[in-house]
Order: sequence, then structure tokens, then C-alpha cells
Amino acid sequence: MMRRKTLIAVALAAVLILVAAGCGTGGLGNRKADKALGKELFTSKCAACHVLADAGAVGISGPNLDDAFAEVRKHGFKESTIFEVIDKQIKYPTGRALYDPEREIHVNGPLPTVQMEPDIVKGGDREAVAAYVASVAGLPVKGGGGGKIVSTDGKELFAQAGCGACHAFKDAGSSGAIGPNLDATMPSRAVVVQRVTNGKGAMPSFKGKLDDDQIGAVADYVSGSAGK
Ligand code: HEC
Ligand code: HEC
Repeated sequence: MMRRKTLIAVALAAVLILVAAGCGTGGLGNRKADKALGKELFTSKCAACHVLADAGAVGISGPNLDDAFAEVRKHGFKESTIFEVIDKQIKYPTGRALYDPEREIHVNGPLPTVQMEPDIVKGGDREAVAAYVASVAGLPVKGGGGGKIVSTDGKELFAQAGCGACHAFKDAGSSGAIGPNLDATMPSRAVVVQRVTNGKGAMPSFKGKLDDDQIGAVADYVSGSAGK
């Protein structure tokens, strides 16, 4: 997609200027960062909103990080530069994927809906996540299997599809506040199937991400456990 490329190019240009001016985090922390820790942190803090095949992450509220950085790698940018981009994004989320400067509109509608909070992880943890993502995003996955949800268990699906990033739901231990608290609204099975299939407002459609059986399973789970 042309527009996507332009946005990434703009972001990279900004980062390169920062690095050239000596404001970058520096390559050392990058190389020393603990990628195993980074992967763990990614799974708990980032996976609900992003696709990243190496981590088996399938969230769809934020951009697909494999697609985004495959594009960046094609342009010949090095891992250390990609590290800088991710490190900066965690410190200062731009909202740029939702805002198209060429057309001066928000791509997903009049107002950004889902926002990435700044400083989800800090300091060494942030460097670990950034180093991990920079080392795997957009590269083919060894053994494959990532990026696609295969579970058929409703509770597992609720976690893997990132429902909890937006919804509070006691049985799943989640406290997201972008969508309604499902223990309070206690939706029927039919309502869950409808919303998950078609989305509404800030809620994305999961059609194509979850098949009909998986949507049925997550609907059984939510309607059966809500308010308990
Ligand atoms: C609540 C959902 C949410 C969570 C959690 C989240 N992100 Fe994001 N992320 C987004 C959204 C939405 C965008 C696009 C808007 C923006 O740039 O702020 C984004 C953008 C990004 C980008 C820029 C991608 C591009 O194509 O320009 C990177 C890199 C990124 N996130 C990494 C992370 C990492 C690493 C974490 C965990 C520390 C994380 N995100 C956690 C929603 C999320
Ligand atoms: C990016 C945030 C986001 C994600 C991810 C998300 N939702 Fe939602 N959801 C919302 C919002 C916002 C609404 C309210 C939509 C409206 O009515 O305008 C909503 C509404 C719903 C409703 C209707 C609630 C009611 O009783 O009226 C159900 C059920 C629901 N979501 C279930 C899920 C399930 C299950 C998942 C995971 C497969 C999921 N949601 C993922 C944001 C999200």
C-alpha cells in the first residue's frame, strides 16, 4: 500500500534526524538488551493490539507489525534503526497510523478510537521489547504457525484475540476500558456473535481473523460467564 509506505518513510526520516543529532538511545543498550525478556513483555503488554508472528500475537487494534516492518526492511533499513523507531513509538506514540497527513484526515474515522498509551514499558524493559521486536518483525517465522489464531476454546480465544485490551471481564481477569464492561452489560450469545463478526464503533470486526466456530466459542464463553 502506497500510503502506508509514505507514513513509514516519514517516521523513519524523523528518527534518522534524531539519531544523526545524537539524541538516539544509542546502539549499546540495543545490543545488550535481553530479547527473551522482551518477548515475554511483548506477550503481556503489546500482543493484545498487534500482530507479530514470532510471538504468536494476533491483536488487531494496532498496526500489523510484521507488515509494517517487512516494508521497512525492504527499503534496506538496518535493525538498529528499526530499534530506534520502536523505542520512540513506545515513549511517544504518534497516532500517525490513524492520521494521514497527505489527506489530513484520520484514516479510521473522524477521531482516533484506539490509542497506544505512552510508556507501557520503561527503561531497560522498553529497550528489551524494542530489541526483541526489531529482531523479528517482518521476518519469516521459523516453524511457522504464528499470526493465526488456532484455538477453539472460548476463554483462550478471548485472551488471544485481545478482547481484554478493550473490555473488563472478571472471568478473564481483564480490565480494558475502551469498550463496555461485559459483566455489566451481560450480552446474549447472539449479541456477542453479532459484535465480534461485524464490529461496531471502536470495536473492530473479527471476520477473517476468527472463523464461525471460534466466534461461536467466544460467544458461548462470554454469554456464559458474564456477571459471574
Ligand atoms: C491498546 C492497544 C495497543 C497496545 C497495548 C500497544 N499498541 Fe502499539 N499501536 C497501537 C495503535 C492504535 C497504533 C497506531 C497509532 C500510533 O501510532 O500510536 C500503534 C502503533 C505501534 C507501532 C508503530 C507501527 C507503525 O506501523 O507505524 C509500533 C512499533 C508499536 N505500536 C509497538 C507496540 C509495542 C512494542 C507495544 C507494547 C509495549 C504496543 N505497541 C502496545 C495500539 C497498541
Ligand atoms: C479495540 C477495542 C475492542 C476490542 C479489541 C474488542 N472490543 Fe468489543 N467493543 C468495543 C467497543 C468500543 C464496544 C461498544 C461498541 C458500540 O456499541 O458502539 C464493544 C462492544 C462489544 C459487545 C457488546 C456489548 C453490549 O453488551 O452491548 C460485545 C459483546 C463485545 N464487544 C465483545 C467483544 C469480544 C468477545 C471481543 C474479542 C473477540 C471484543 N469485543 C474485542 C471495543 C472492543
